[in-house]
Amino acid sequence: MGSPVIRLARLGDLPEIVEIYNASIPGERSTADVAPVTVESRMAWFVMHAPDHRPIWVAEAAGRVVGWLSFSDYYGRPAYHSTVEVGLYVATDAQAQGVGRALTRAAIAAAPALGVRTLLWITFDINEASLRLAASFGFSRWGLLPKVTELSGVRRDVAILGLELAEPESGAPESGR
Ligand SMILES: CC(C)(COP(=O)(O)OP(=O)(O)OC[C@H]1O[C@@H](n2cnc3c(N)ncnc32)[C@H](O)[C@@H]1OP(=O)(O)O)[C@@H](O)C(=O)NCCC(=O)NCCS
Repeated sequence: MGSPVIRLARLGDLPEIVEIYNASIPGERSTADVAPVTVESRMAWFVMHAPDHRPIWVAEAAGRVVGWLSFSDYYGRPAYHSTVEVGLYVATDAQAQGVGRALTRAAIAAAPALGVRTLLWITFDINEASLRLAASFGFSRWGLLPKVTELSGVRRDVAILGLELAEPESGAPESGR
């Protein structure tokens, strides 16, 4: 697979976005959902992700969507406006080929223009690929929620990784008063 094209998601991508998400559920290490979701049930989620505020990007290769990344509100209250939670899913047959890295790179580059200063990456602590990918972009471990999930009778820890982006250039120095 060549380098994927990263672009903003369109409504027509939603079935592929949902399919990729659903494929990650049986592995029990990526999401706390336990049953497939429907396109219809994700419509409101898609619409809430306005491209100028909380975008969803897709990676496209050979004419199909092979992965997606979302910026979501971490906590709906206004004072958290500059903080987002990252969601990232790559199609099973496109994993370990640089798609997750390309999406993450593009999202971090876009963050300042969206007013985003802090990225949170919340993942099962056994998700080696996710942890490594985040670490390679400078995310560090900010917290651990011990045994907060239970899948097939196994209680699993959830790790919270964070990345604080550099201060934007402040422009001209303030004139003295
Ligand atoms: C985790 C995930 C997003 C990574 O995306 P990807 O496209 O497969 O990863 P990339 O090929 O871009 O690899 C980026 C880095 O991730 C790590 N990585 C990827 N696959 C890995 C694996 N199987 N084992 C260990 N590390 C892995 C490596 O550090 C890699 O860097 P390297 O190639 O320089 O070694 C992808 O595997 C996925 O969608 N998994 C299912 C859903 C999921 O777990 N999402 C994260 C929820 S927070």
